[in-house]
Amino acid sequence: MPSVIAGTGHYLPAQRLTNTMLEQRVDTSHDWIVERTGIHERRIAEPAESAVTMGAAAARQALQAAGINADDLDLIIVATTSGERAFPSVACEIQAALTENNIPAFDVAAACSGFIFALSVADQYIRSGMYEKVLVVGSDVLSRLCHPDDRNTLVLFGDGAGAVVLEASDRAGIMSTHLNSAGEFADLLGVNHLSRTSPEQLGEAWMYMKGNEVFKVAVSKLSELVVDTLAANNMQASDLDWLVPHQANLRIIKATAKKLKMPMEQVITTLEYTGNTSAASVPIALDVAIRDGRIQRGQKLLLEAFGGGFAWGSALIDY
Ligand code: ACO
Repeated sequence: MPSVIAGTGHYLPAQRLTNTMLEQRVDTSHDWIVERTGIHERRIAEPAESAVTMGAAAARQALQAAGINADDLDLIIVATTSGERAFPSVACEIQAALTENNIPAFDVAAACSGFIFALSVADQYIRSGMYEKVLVVGSDVLSRLCHPDDRNTLVLFGDGAGAVVLEASDRAGIMSTHLNSAGEFADLLGVNHLSRTSPEQLGEAWMYMKGNEVFKVAVSKLSELVVDTLAANNMQASDLDWLVPHQANLRIIKATAKKLKMPMEQVITTLEYTGNTSAASVPIALDVAIRDGRIQRGQKLLLEAFGGGFAWGSALIDY
Protein backbone atom coordinates (compact mmCIF):
# COMPACT_ATOMS: atom_id res chain seq x y z
CA MET A 1 0.00 0.00 0.00
CA PRO A 2 1.18 3.57 -0.54
CA SER A 3 1.82 5.87 2.39
CA VAL A 4 0.57 9.27 3.55
CA ILE A 5 1.95 11.82 5.97
CA ALA A 6 -0.31 11.49 9.01
CA GLY A 7 1.43 14.05 11.24
CA THR A 8 4.50 16.27 11.53
CA GLY A 9 6.48 17.95 14.32
CA HIS A 10 9.69 19.82 15.00
CA TYR A 11 11.97 21.01 17.77
CA LEU A 12 14.44 23.90 17.89
CA PRO A 13 16.74 24.63 20.85
CA ALA A 14 15.95 27.89 22.68
CA GLN A 15 19.53 29.22 22.50
CA ARG A 16 19.94 31.73 19.63
CA LEU A 17 23.23 32.54 17.89
CA THR A 18 22.91 35.69 15.78
CA ASN A 19 25.25 36.89 13.04
CA THR A 20 26.18 39.82 15.26
CA MET A 21 27.25 37.38 17.99
CA LEU A 22 29.39 35.51 15.42
CA GLU A 23 31.10 38.79 14.47
CA GLN A 24 32.60 38.75 17.99
CA ARG A 25 34.07 35.26 17.46
CA VAL A 26 35.43 35.13 13.91
CA ASP A 27 36.29 37.47 11.03
CA THR A 28 32.85 37.79 9.45
CA SER A 29 29.96 40.25 9.27
CA HIS A 30 26.18 40.17 9.47
CA ASP A 31 25.95 41.72 5.99
CA TRP A 32 28.31 39.13 4.43
CA ILE A 33 26.39 36.22 5.95
CA VAL A 34 22.98 37.58 4.91
CA GLU A 35 24.13 38.44 1.39
CA ARG A 36 25.91 35.11 0.77
CA THR A 37 23.54 32.75 2.62
CA GLY A 38 20.28 34.46 3.69
CA ILE A 39 20.89 33.33 7.30
CA HIS A 40 20.31 35.83 10.15
CA GLU A 41 20.56 33.52 13.15
CA ARG A 42 20.57 29.85 14.11
CA ARG A 43 19.64 27.80 17.20
CA ILE A 44 22.37 26.01 19.17
CA ALA A 45 21.79 22.95 21.37
CA GLU A 46 22.58 23.27 25.09
CA PRO A 47 24.92 20.58 26.52
CA ALA A 48 21.89 18.61 27.78
CA GLU A 49 20.35 18.60 24.29
CA SER A 50 21.35 16.06 21.64
CA ALA A 51 20.15 14.44 18.43
CA VAL A 52 18.27 12.04 20.73
CA THR A 53 16.47 14.58 22.95
CA MET A 54 15.62 16.89 20.04
CA GLY A 55 14.50 14.00 17.84
CA ALA A 56 12.29 12.58 20.58
CA ALA A 57 10.67 15.99 21.14
CA ALA A 58 9.93 16.40 17.42
CA ALA A 59 8.63 12.82 17.30
CA ARG A 60 6.19 13.41 20.18
CA GLN A 61 4.72 16.40 18.31
CA ALA A 62 4.40 14.37 15.11
CA LEU A 63 2.71 11.49 16.95
CA GLN A 64 0.27 13.90 18.57
CA ALA A 65 -0.50 15.52 15.20
CA ALA A 66 -1.08 12.05 13.70
CA GLY A 67 -3.35 11.17 16.62
CA ILE A 68 -1.46 7.97 17.44
CA ASN A 69 0.50 6.62 20.38
CA ALA A 70 4.17 5.64 20.12
CA ASP A 71 3.10 2.11 21.06
CA ASP A 72 1.25 1.93 17.71
CA LEU A 73 4.47 2.41 15.69
CA ASP A 74 5.98 -0.46 13.68
CA LEU A 75 9.36 1.12 12.86
CA ILE A 76 11.53 4.15 13.65
CA ILE A 77 14.07 5.54 11.15
CA VAL A 78 16.29 8.46 12.15
CA ALA A 79 18.31 10.51 9.67
CA THR A 80 21.37 11.85 11.47
CA THR A 81 25.14 12.15 11.27
CA SER A 82 25.71 13.75 14.67
CA GLY A 83 24.76 11.20 17.31
CA GLU A 84 26.83 11.25 20.50
CA ARG A 85 28.03 7.71 19.84
CA ALA A 86 28.87 5.52 16.83
CA PHE A 87 26.47 3.03 18.45
CA PRO A 88 23.91 2.54 19.82
CA SER A 89 22.13 4.43 17.07
CA VAL A 90 20.21 7.61 17.76
CA ALA A 91 17.13 5.70 16.58
CA CYS A 92 17.51 3.06 19.32
CA GLU A 93 17.75 5.76 21.97
CA ILE A 94 14.69 7.56 20.58
CA GLN A 95 12.82 4.24 20.57
CA ALA A 96 13.68 3.79 24.27
CA ALA A 97 12.45 7.33 24.99
CA LEU A 98 9.10 6.74 23.24
CA THR A 99 8.01 3.14 23.74
CA GLU A 100 8.76 -0.11 25.54
CA ASN A 101 7.84 -2.08 22.42
CA ASN A 102 10.85 -3.72 20.78
CA ILE A 103 10.15 -2.30 17.35
CA PRO A 104 13.07 -1.97 14.93
CA ALA A 105 14.89 1.36 14.96
CA PHE A 106 17.89 2.37 12.87
CA ASP A 107 19.78 5.41 11.61
CA VAL A 108 20.27 6.51 8.02
CA ALA A 109 23.39 8.58 7.28
CA ALA A 110 23.10 10.82 4.22
CA ALA A 111 24.14 14.15 5.79
CA CYS A 112 21.81 17.00 4.77
CA SER A 113 19.79 14.68 2.50
CA GLY A 114 19.25 12.14 5.27
CA PHE A 115 15.57 12.92 5.80
CA ILE A 116 14.70 12.38 2.11
CA PHE A 117 16.62 9.07 2.13
CA ALA A 118 14.89 7.96 5.37
CA LEU A 119 11.47 8.98 4.02
CA SER A 120 12.11 6.91 0.91
CA VAL A 121 13.11 3.85 2.99
CA ALA A 122 10.02 4.23 5.19
CA ASP A 123 7.76 4.52 2.14
CA GLN A 124 9.25 1.32 0.66
CA TYR A 125 8.58 -0.61 3.89
CA ILE A 126 4.95 0.52 3.83
CA ARG A 127 4.55 -0.14 0.08
CA SER A 128 5.91 -3.68 0.56
CA GLY A 129 3.25 -4.32 3.19
CA MET A 130 5.79 -5.07 5.91
CA TYR A 131 4.87 -2.13 8.16
CA GLU A 132 1.91 0.25 8.48
CA LYS A 133 3.04 3.04 10.78
CA VAL A 134 6.57 4.42 10.55
CA LEU A 135 8.16 7.34 12.39
CA VAL A 136 10.77 9.21 10.35
CA VAL A 137 12.97 11.69 12.23
CA GLY A 138 15.69 14.06 11.01
CA SER A 139 17.84 15.30 13.90
CA ASP A 140 21.27 16.92 13.82
CA VAL A 141 23.63 18.91 16.05
CA LEU A 142 26.11 20.02 13.42
CA SER A 143 27.14 23.09 15.43
CA ARG A 144 29.21 20.63 17.50
CA LEU A 145 31.09 19.47 14.41
CA CYS A 146 32.15 22.98 13.34
CA HIS A 147 35.56 24.16 14.56
CA PRO A 148 35.00 27.17 16.86
CA ASP A 149 37.39 29.28 14.72
CA ASP A 150 36.21 28.15 11.26
CA ARG A 151 34.12 30.91 9.74
CA ASN A 152 33.48 28.73 6.67
CA THR A 153 31.21 26.35 8.55
CA LEU A 154 30.35 28.23 11.75
CA VAL A 155 28.11 30.75 10.00
CA LEU A 156 26.04 28.11 8.21
CA PHE A 157 24.97 25.47 10.70
CA GLY A 158 22.35 25.33 13.43
CA ASP A 159 20.77 22.50 15.45
CA GLY A 160 17.25 21.04 15.43
CA ALA A 161 14.97 18.13 14.66
CA GLY A 162 11.89 17.42 12.56
CA ALA A 163 9.67 14.35 12.33
CA VAL A 164 6.84 12.83 10.33
CA VAL A 165 4.57 9.84 10.92
CA LEU A 166 3.90 7.87 7.73
CA GLU A 167 0.88 5.59 7.56
CA ALA A 168 -0.33 3.01 5.04
CA SER A 169 -3.22 4.39 3.00
CA ASP A 170 -5.38 3.82 -0.07
CA ARG A 171 -3.97 6.95 -1.67
CA ALA A 172 -0.37 7.72 -2.61
CA GLY A 173 0.64 10.62 -0.38
CA ILE A 174 4.32 9.93 -1.07
CA MET A 175 3.97 9.88 -4.87
CA SER A 176 7.62 9.18 -5.64
CA THR A 177 11.10 9.52 -4.17
CA HIS A 178 14.37 9.95 -6.10
CA LEU A 179 17.82 9.36 -4.59
CA ASN A 180 21.34 9.95 -5.91
CA SER A 181 24.90 9.72 -4.61
CA ALA A 182 28.35 10.68 -5.91
CA GLY A 183 31.06 9.50 -3.53
CA GLU A 184 33.87 10.95 -5.64
CA PHE A 185 33.15 14.34 -4.07
CA ALA A 186 34.05 13.15 -0.54
CA ASP A 187 36.96 15.61 -0.29
CA LEU A 188 34.71 18.65 -0.72
CA LEU A 189 32.55 18.16 2.37
CA GLY A 190 32.79 15.83 5.35
CA VAL A 191 33.66 15.15 8.98
CA ASN A 192 36.45 12.77 10.04
CA HIS A 193 35.17 10.30 12.59
CA LEU A 194 36.91 10.59 15.97
CA SER A 195 37.59 6.85 16.19
CA ARG A 196 39.45 7.04 12.86
CA THR A 197 41.65 9.90 14.07
CA SER A 198 44.90 9.46 15.98
CA PRO A 199 45.20 11.31 19.33
CA GLU A 200 47.60 13.86 17.75
CA GLN A 201 45.02 14.59 15.06
CA LEU A 202 42.04 15.07 17.35
CA GLY A 203 41.92 18.74 16.47
CA GLU A 204 41.25 17.74 12.87
CA ALA A 205 38.02 15.91 13.63
CA TRP A 206 35.91 18.83 12.50
CA MET A 207 33.81 19.50 9.45
CA TYR A 208 35.76 20.39 6.31
CA MET A 209 34.03 22.12 3.41
CA LYS A 210 35.07 23.70 0.12
CA GLY A 211 31.98 25.88 0.12
CA ASN A 212 32.06 27.42 -3.33
CA GLU A 213 32.73 24.04 -5.01
CA VAL A 214 29.88 22.44 -3.04
CA PHE A 215 27.69 25.36 -4.07
CA LYS A 216 28.25 24.81 -7.81
CA VAL A 217 27.54 21.07 -7.72
CA ALA A 218 24.48 21.61 -5.48
CA VAL A 219 22.92 24.13 -7.87
CA SER A 220 23.50 21.96 -10.91
CA LYS A 221 22.39 18.63 -9.38
CA LEU A 222 19.29 20.11 -7.71
CA SER A 223 18.21 21.80 -10.94
CA GLU A 224 18.42 18.46 -12.77
CA LEU A 225 16.73 16.63 -9.93
CA VAL A 226 13.61 18.78 -9.64
CA VAL A 227 13.03 18.71 -13.41
CA ASP A 228 13.51 14.91 -13.52
CA THR A 229 11.20 14.40 -10.51
CA LEU A 230 8.36 16.26 -12.21
CA ALA A 231 8.96 14.48 -15.54
CA ALA A 232 8.86 11.08 -13.81
CA ASN A 233 5.38 11.96 -12.56
CA ASN A 234 4.16 13.56 -15.83
CA MET A 235 3.78 16.84 -13.99
CA GLN A 236 4.62 20.48 -14.71
CA ALA A 237 6.03 22.94 -12.19
CA SER A 238 2.66 24.74 -12.40
CA ASP A 239 1.06 21.62 -10.84
CA LEU A 240 3.06 22.19 -7.66
CA ASP A 241 1.76 24.18 -4.72
CA TRP A 242 4.97 24.31 -2.65
CA LEU A 243 8.69 23.73 -2.91
CA VAL A 244 10.08 22.60 0.47
CA PRO A 245 13.86 22.72 -0.04
CA HIS A 246 16.84 21.87 2.16
CA GLN A 247 17.76 25.08 3.99
CA ALA A 248 21.47 25.41 3.15
CA ASN A 249 21.73 28.68 1.31
CA LEU A 250 19.06 31.07 0.00
CA ARG A 251 20.97 31.47 -3.26
CA ILE A 252 20.86 27.69 -3.90
CA ILE A 253 17.12 27.70 -3.05
CA LYS A 254 16.46 30.64 -5.40
CA ALA A 255 18.37 28.92 -8.23
CA THR A 256 16.22 25.80 -7.83
CA ALA A 257 12.99 27.83 -7.71
CA LYS A 258 14.11 29.74 -10.81
CA LYS A 259 14.71 26.48 -12.67
CA LEU A 260 11.08 25.58 -11.87
CA LYS A 261 9.91 29.14 -12.60
CA MET A 262 8.28 29.09 -9.15
CA PRO A 263 7.87 32.43 -7.35
CA MET A 264 9.54 32.60 -3.92
CA GLU A 265 6.02 33.00 -2.42
CA GLN A 266 5.60 29.26 -3.11
CA VAL A 267 8.91 28.31 -1.49
CA ILE A 268 9.12 27.48 2.22
CA THR A 269 12.21 28.91 3.92
CA THR A 270 13.23 28.82 7.57
CA LEU A 271 16.97 29.28 7.17
CA GLU A 272 16.69 32.97 8.08
CA TYR A 273 16.28 31.87 11.74
CA THR A 274 17.40 28.21 11.74
CA GLY A 275 20.51 28.17 9.53
CA ASN A 276 21.32 24.81 7.98
CA THR A 277 20.08 22.11 10.35
CA SER A 278 21.24 19.28 8.06
CA ALA A 279 18.91 16.25 8.13
CA ALA A 280 16.39 18.23 10.20
CA SER A 281 16.01 21.06 7.73
CA VAL A 282 13.36 19.66 5.37
CA PRO A 283 11.04 18.23 8.08
CA ILE A 284 11.36 21.46 10.12
CA ALA A 285 10.37 23.57 7.09
CA LEU A 286 7.52 21.16 6.30
CA ASP A 287 6.13 21.23 9.83
CA VAL A 288 6.45 25.02 10.18
CA ALA A 289 4.41 25.56 6.99
CA ILE A 290 1.80 22.95 7.96
CA ARG A 291 1.37 24.47 11.43
CA ASP A 292 1.08 28.06 10.14
CA GLY A 293 -1.55 26.95 7.61
CA ARG A 294 0.32 27.60 4.37
CA ILE A 295 0.51 23.90 3.45
CA GLN A 296 -2.97 22.40 3.26
CA ARG A 297 -4.27 18.86 2.72
CA GLY A 298 -4.60 18.01 -0.99
CA GLN A 299 -1.71 20.22 -2.08
CA LYS A 300 1.29 19.00 -4.07
CA LEU A 301 4.72 19.43 -2.46
CA LEU A 302 8.20 18.94 -3.84
CA LEU A 303 10.80 18.22 -1.15
CA GLU A 304 14.51 18.24 -2.07
CA ALA A 305 17.92 18.17 -0.40
CA PHE A 306 21.62 18.08 -1.23
CA GLY A 307 24.57 17.41 1.05
CA GLY A 308 27.67 15.52 2.11
CA GLY A 309 28.47 12.36 0.18
CA PHE A 310 27.52 13.92 -2.08
CA ALA A 311 24.01 12.61 -1.62
CA TRP A 312 20.90 14.30 -2.96
CA GLY A 313 17.25 13.42 -3.32
CA SER A 314 13.65 14.52 -3.72
CA ALA A 315 10.16 13.46 -2.74
CA LEU A 316 6.95 14.41 -4.53
CA ILE A 317 4.07 14.47 -2.09
CA ASP A 318 0.29 14.75 -2.38
CA TYR A 319 -0.26 16.08 1.12
N1 ACO B 1 32.60 35.69 6.49
C1 ACO B 1 33.16 36.68 5.75
N2 ACO B 1 33.85 36.45 4.62
C2 ACO B 1 33.98 35.17 4.22
C3 ACO B 1 33.43 34.10 4.95
C4 ACO B 1 32.70 34.39 6.13
N3 ACO B 1 32.14 33.44 6.88
N4 ACO B 1 33.71 32.95 4.32
C5 ACO B 1 34.41 33.28 3.22
N5 ACO B 1 34.57 34.63 3.16
C6 ACO B 1 35.24 35.41 2.11
C7 ACO B 1 36.28 34.59 1.38
O1 ACO B 1 37.53 34.64 2.01
C8 ACO B 1 36.31 35.27 0.02
O2 ACO B 1 37.07 36.44 0.10
P1 ACO B 1 37.97 36.94 -1.14
O3 ACO B 1 36.99 37.21 -2.25
O4 ACO B 1 38.65 38.15 -0.60
O5 ACO B 1 38.89 35.79 -1.45
C9 ACO B 1 34.87 35.70 -0.20
O6 ACO B 1 34.27 35.75 1.13
C10 ACO B 1 34.07 34.76 -1.08
O7 ACO B 1 34.27 33.41 -0.62
P2 ACO B 1 33.52 32.20 -1.29
O8 ACO B 1 33.88 30.96 -0.56
O9 ACO B 1 33.74 32.22 -2.77
O10 ACO B 1 32.00 32.61 -0.96
P3 ACO B 1 30.66 32.02 -1.55
O11 ACO B 1 29.93 33.07 -2.25
O12 ACO B 1 30.87 30.72 -2.26
O13 ACO B 1 29.84 31.72 -0.21
C11 ACO B 1 29.26 29.83 1.14
C12 ACO B 1 30.37 30.80 0.73
C13 ACO B 1 28.18 30.60 1.85
C14 ACO B 1 29.86 28.78 2.06
C15 ACO B 1 28.66 29.16 -0.13
O14 ACO B 1 29.71 28.71 -0.96
C16 ACO B 1 27.75 27.99 0.19
O15 ACO B 1 26.70 28.14 0.75
N6 ACO B 1 28.14 26.77 -0.23
C17 ACO B 1 27.33 25.59 -0.05
C18 ACO B 1 27.38 25.11 1.35
C19 ACO B 1 26.48 23.92 1.49
O16 ACO B 1 25.43 23.85 0.87
N7 ACO B 1 26.91 22.93 2.26
C20 ACO B 1 26.32 21.67 2.00
C21 ACO B 1 25.35 21.14 2.83
S1 ACO B 1 25.96 20.72 4.34
C22 ACO B 1 25.95 19.02 4.66
O17 ACO B 1 25.65 18.15 3.87
C23 ACO B 1 26.42 18.67 6.02
